[in-house]
Formats: sequence, structure tokens, C-alpha cells
Amino acid sequence: MSTPKGSDITRVRVHHIREAKERGERVTMLTAYDFPTARIFDAAGIDMLLIGDSVGDNILGHPNTLPVTVDEMIPHVRAVSRAAQRALVVADLPFGCYEASPEQALASAVRMVKEGGANAVKFEGGERVTPQVRAITGAGIPVVGHLGFTPQSENILGGKRVQGRGPGAEERLTKDAVALQEAGAFAVVLEMMSAPVAAHITEVLTISTIGIGAGVGCDGQVLVWLDLAGMGDWSPRFAKQYAHLGSDLEAAAKEYAAEVKSGAFPSPEQSYLQ
Ligand code: KIV
Repeated sequence: MSTPKGSDITRVRVHHIREAKERGERVTMLTAYDFPTARIFDAAGIDMLLIGDSVGDNILGHPNTLPVTVDEMIPHVRAVSRAAQRALVVADLPFGCYEASPEQALASAVRMVKEGGANAVKFEGGERVTPQVRAITGAGIPVVGHLGFTPQSENILGGKRVQGRGPGAEERLTKDAVALQEAGAFAVVLEMMSAPVAAHITEVLTISTIGIGAGVGCDGQVLVWLDLAGMGDWSPRFAKQYAHLGSDLEAAAKEYAAEVKSGAFPSPEQSYLQ
């Protein structure tokens, strides 16, 4: 993303995301959970780095995002914030730290900014969380909404299911998206949503939509980086593997082990001989 004058942005800000929508320029977001990968994605020019609560299933070995706590998130948010020179850093609010009240949500968001160094927070839900969006933006913290398949509600949604299908679904989701916009969110993630519904919401909103499994009609896209990099043994149908780091790393580890056992590593070049 570049500024309207054509010069490179030194730091992506909320207004750059807004202006990109006005220009019809797509924005990019990737998850990041640690310093070295965040530094690589930042250098690659990714506009926004999301410390998702997907840290739970992707990094910490949980079966889903539900067990993740704010205390667990903070070190990851800190590491990514330290790495990001250009990207806007967005921290997810994990399950259980914002639903009870606007006060609870604000306290959690403040921790992400004050202790983690985040520039913005994201959390799941539509109309029901608009008091939380108002409280957080009112305190000067930008908010990204999250609609469609919302993993923190997977138990009530009946598992990982595409949203936006069936009678009234488009209307309901559009109402939620408009409510988030009116409450002050600057962008909204649309996850696993019927592509025509996501495209419709994108048309209706003046703020950016960021799709994940929601088709090409969104203002930007987000992926979990391990899916993009081929790090796991499973990735969702909507993700594209741009690399095969999982198999490359396994091959590297096997070659290293074989060379240690055979004595080929360390060689004289890798040794201090005097
Ligand atoms: O936690 C996460 O990684 C997310 C993305 C899937 C948008 O919320």
C-alpha cells in the first residue's frame, strides 16, 4: 500500500486503511505470533499483523482458540509489536475477556495496548458487542470487528460452518456489519462467509472488509501464516499454500540428525581449529 502521493508509508495507520478503501486498493493482513516471523512479514510489506487468538490452536497446541487468555496473548503481542516497523499491529481479544461488559472489554483492550504495544484490537460479534466497540474506540483504541464464522462461538454455531447461507442470513450479517461501523470499528474481518454476502457487505460499508474464506469481493484478505506457509499437516480449503515450510523443516531436521550421527557435521569449516 502506498500513500496517495506515491511515497511509501512509513507506518500504516487506521486512516491509511480507510483511504485504501476509497481508492479501491486492497489491503493485506497476516497473523503473526513471534518476533522473527513478524519481522519477515513486516519487511514483506504486509499492511496489518494480527496476533490472533489462533495462537491457541496454531502455536500453543490447544484444540481451538477457547482456552487462550489475555496473559497468554501479551508476550506474543509484545514480540510482534517489537518487530513491526511499518505494519499496523492488531491484537485479538480472546474468549472471556470482553463479552461481560464494556468495562471488561476496555480493560482488556488497554492491556493489549499498554503492555503489548498493539495499535488496535479485534474481537468477535455484531450488534451485541457494539457497546464494547464504543467504549474501546471512545478511549482512543481502534477496533476491528469480526463476523461470519466466529471461532469463539464454534459451540453455538455447530462447528466450523460457512455463514451467510439461508433465508435472512445476508440481512442479519449486513445489519451486524453496519452496527459495528456505526459504533466506530475501522474494519471488519469476514470469516468463512458466502462470497456474495461478503461482497454485498463490502459494497454497503464505508469501512474495510478483510476476508478469510469469504471470496474475492472484500477490501482485503487475511490468512493464518502457518496455512500460507504450509507449516501444518492440515489447512482449510480457503487457504492457499505459498510455501511448504513444514516439509522443508522436517527434511532439514532429518539431514541435520543424519550428519550429526555420521560425523559430517560440524565439518572443519564449522569448527574453531585453533
Ligand atoms: O485468530 C485469528 O487468527 C483470526 C483470523 C482467522 C482472522 O481471527
